[in-house]
Amino acid sequence: MFYSGEELKAVFHKAKQQRFGIIASNVVFDFTIRGILQGYDQTKSDGLLQMSSGAVKYAAGNSKDMNTGAQLISTMIKTLSQQFKHSGVGLHIDHATPNYFDFIVYCLENNLVTSVMIDASHEKFSENIRISAEVVKIAHKYGVLVEGEIGYIKGSEDEIVSDTELYTNPEEALEFVKKTKVDLFAASVGTNHGVTKGSEVVLRLDLIKKIDDLLIANNVETGIVLHGASGLTTRQQQDAIANGVVKINKDTMYQMEMASAVQAYWEKEKDAIVKPAGISDHDYMPDKKRFDPRKWIGKAEENCSRALQELTVISGSAGKSILL
Ligand code: G3H
Ligand code: CA
Repeated sequence: MFYSGEELKAVFHKAKQQRFGIIASNVVFDFTIRGILQGYDQTKSDGLLQMSSGAVKYAAGNSKDMNTGAQLISTMIKTLSQQFKHSGVGLHIDHATPNYFDFIVYCLENNLVTSVMIDASHEKFSENIRISAEVVKIAHKYGVLVEGEIGYIKGSEDEIVSDTELYTNPEEALEFVKKTKVDLFAASVGTNHGVTKGSEVVLRLDLIKKIDDLLIANNVETGIVLHGASGLTTRQQQDAIANGVVKINKDTMYQMEMASAVQAYWEKEKDAIVKPAGISDHDYMPDKKRFDPRKWIGKAEENCSRALQELTVISGSAGKSILL
């Protein structure tokens, strides 16, 4: 099922009250979308699929037209998700920086998304508040949820690249949430975008808890979002959830899972397309059954789906869909 903004709000509300996490999965291609949707349904978990600006440009092909890319991704998710009865999903715009304001409005006017992240975290604090509040005002008219961010995290994710990190200040977080009325709040608490090893990440659980407690004490409780969560250990993710995180973003992990599945396939099936040494041209025949893209891309899809299913068990969202 494809959720409305109101239904997605209920998903996050349930997760926050029962202290489990919703896995937000970055997608681009049909096979990631399919693998992820099937994965959520398999474990009866609600979820969120996210498209970055780079993803929508890629989806559109050479034109890189973001509106076309978003239409394609949204239509595919809406159509496929109708088949699944044990879980529901929404579609989220990930890291829309202020220069993509018109793109956000296009997605809202055309009913393509359930939620959107306005990322003005690299602007001055007052400017971040002004821009984020403006997006909230428009998005809420369409019943769409908004995620905002202050502070920024290190690493690279598509078009978002930062060599430095700036931890979120809890007092500023409170002021930001109060003034903007965002539904979800992304905090910088030690994670990095890209390939990371959880064992080397110093996750600031104290900061997550401080922000969450402060928001709750001031009656502006929102779900806290953890970006750059791919390398985190099971324990780190569960501790983050226990301290107030409700949305865990994953991108790099799926990319690695898909790449390793394809690599393993071709290591085993190389002779389907490459003539082994010592065999004559006359005796060698490529094997269409094994180089058909559905075979090897299918492995990527399966691995992506498996990884997501494990994540829903770790985050506790398995078996907790609001549809059940
Ligand atoms: O918004 C998406 C996530 O922050 C992706 O981070 O690439 O480290 O999984 P990741
Ligand atoms: Ca991110």
